[in-house]
Amino acid sequence: MNSRLFRPLIAALVLAFAARIVIAAQGNPEAAKVKNPIEATPDSIAKGKAVYAKCAPCHGREGEGGPGNDLIPAAPSLVDDKWEHGSTDGEIFDNIKNGIGPDFNMVPWKDQLKDDDIWNVVNYVRSMKKK
Ligand code: HEC
Repeated sequence: MNSRLFRPLIAALVLAFAARIVIAAQGNPEAAKVKNPIEATPDSIAKGKAVYAKCAPCHGREGEGGPGNDLIPAAPSLVDDKWEHGSTDGEIFDNIKNGIGPDFNMVPWKDQLKDDDIWNVVNYVRSMKKK
């Protein structure tokens, strides 16, 4: 094949691959499949709000995000439309439970919070966004 035609084709393939890797890094397809087992009832949201007191120092009282400090980079808003690490309930649950590597500035909460409490805080975060 004529290399003038071939090279752009290779370049396009390489780009397509790179784009796939970037997309995969942003979310977690396995976690995305996990369904939220706890309905977002007023009771669940109230429990989630109590849990959120632990998150507010970094993510802001209304989930607006924080300024960060010398030790911890700014925590992202949880009420805008941007989810760097996956937007499904399952991915948000996974990010809270297991933290976000490789730096783990978002620490894992699995030793402090029961799974139910993590789902409740997912429901609360969703409810903040709707306000
Ligand atoms: C010590 C500060 C700190 C605390 C406390 C904290 N976070 Fe985070 N959180 C972060 C930082 C920093 C990031 C960004 C991590 C990254 O991108 O590598 C983050 C990321 C996240 C994300 C991913 C956001 C996205 O765009 O995908 C979610 C969801 C989240 N935090 C929820 C919570 C919840 C819920 C709590 C309370 C249980 C909590 N965080 C407590 C600092 C914190």
